[in-house]
Amino acid sequence: MLEEQGKDDKYSVHYHLRAPHGLINDPNGLVYFNKQYHVFFQWNPEGTTHENKTWGHAVSDDLIEWDYLEPALKPTDWFDKNGCYSGSAFEKDGKLYLFYTGNVRNAEGGRESYQCLAVSEDGVHFEKKGPLFEHPKMYTAHLRDPKIWKEDETYWMVLGAQTEDLKGTALVYRSPDILNWTFEGEFMDALPDFGYMWECPDVLKLENKDVFVFSPQGIEPEGVMYQNIFQTGYVLGQFQDGKFHSDNEDFVEMDRGFEFYAPQSFKDDKGRTIVFGWMGAMPPEEEAAVPTIKDGWIHHLSLPREVKVQNNRLIQQPVDELKLLRLQSSDILGYISQIEKVRFNTPEQEIECVWKEEPASFAWTLRNEVAVSYEAAEKQLTVERTNWLTSKRETRSVYLDAPLTALRVFLEDSSMELYVNGGREVFSLRYFNEQRTDLWEWQNDNWKEHVSQLTVHEL
Ligand code: FRU
Repeated sequence: MLEEQGKDDKYSVHYHLRAPHGLINDPNGLVYFNKQYHVFFQWNPEGTTHENKTWGHAVSDDLIEWDYLEPALKPTDWFDKNGCYSGSAFEKDGKLYLFYTGNVRNAEGGRESYQCLAVSEDGVHFEKKGPLFEHPKMYTAHLRDPKIWKEDETYWMVLGAQTEDLKGTALVYRSPDILNWTFEGEFMDALPDFGYMWECPDVLKLENKDVFVFSPQGIEPEGVMYQNIFQTGYVLGQFQDGKFHSDNEDFVEMDRGFEFYAPQSFKDDKGRTIVFGWMGAMPPEEEAAVPTIKDGWIHHLSLPREVKVQNNRLIQQPVDELKLLRLQSSDILGYISQIEKVRFNTPEQEIECVWKEEPASFAWTLRNEVAVSYEAAEKQLTVERTNWLTSKRETRSVYLDAPLTALRVFLEDSSMELYVNGGREVFSLRYFNEQRTDLWEWQNDNWKEHVSQLTVHEL
């Protein structure tokens, strides 16, 4: 087992999953196997740059306490020598199958990609089986991130891809036995013109809906939308006979904050569909300036979120187990009218605020850094932080589809997730600020009027 290093690093996170050191990016191979949760992750154990990608490995009984195991996959073979890239896991007959992309730079400096398999009996040691098939010719070498699921007796695989005329797309393969795969064609029944590459596609089979989640690259900003370097979002519809038929072509951003990318889902033994994302994707200059690099680590994953579809929206809520983090809970509704600020006692907290009627416009400041504001006329919710590279304030916003009624904030030393209206919207972000305080402050008392629940949990 790897030692737990770095927990006391400056700006470290304690309940978000990070790597022991080095760089972490996408969650991979999420699975409940042999009575444990397994999270694999893109990991550069040798530095804080995007190189040497192995599959890091952490296991947990409860999604709260994680143990690091040795990396499951290392880039040591001809078919993955420049990185064991993202992919997924599937259990069959008591064995764990990992599907991943072998990234190869050839002698001419060009890219080659191989969709590879590795198999394990114990969920700890993996035997590589090498590439599974040859790629169809009509696509570039940007073919990666296999995600597997099973329906009736058929195994399906969706892959992120790029057409020869440089459009993002996704491809489908099918298999009767998880080993032999045949190419079925494009995943979407109609290909929207949407970016130059789709990364990390995923198909969520929820009770009443299928959801296609993917991370397109090359989408231009449009109003308050698509403000990050790369986006992640979803389309609702139905997957049938190898094609995804979307209900309407709406692509909805899954997270409205600054850092959320390349999520992956899995079903656990309780039947829940849980998603982890990567709270990292940022422009290269910003990434290079992240202050944790000095301590030899960078980035972390999002909280595990249980997802459902309600009223044509993906609802994301932190899994119930996160309540185990609560050390002390203070119900402050009774005296909130008399106080001008709240001082936190511990570095990490969760705040729950519920309104019985829509509040008037307001602004909160958390830890002298992150501002959360609501403009009631437009139902616009905005989060603002200081960019650590430019020192400028910057915002992300969403126009809610219903009045604001609930906010749930998870705060750590350099990280925040904000769940709005029971998870109909989420904002995830990092922040780095030498002058951060332990205060929650507000500009005026507008927000207090219709509050019906107000709890601060020290974590
Ligand atoms: C997404 C991604 C994947 C790729 C992996 C490499 O962040 O670019 O498409 O497999 O990261 O680390």
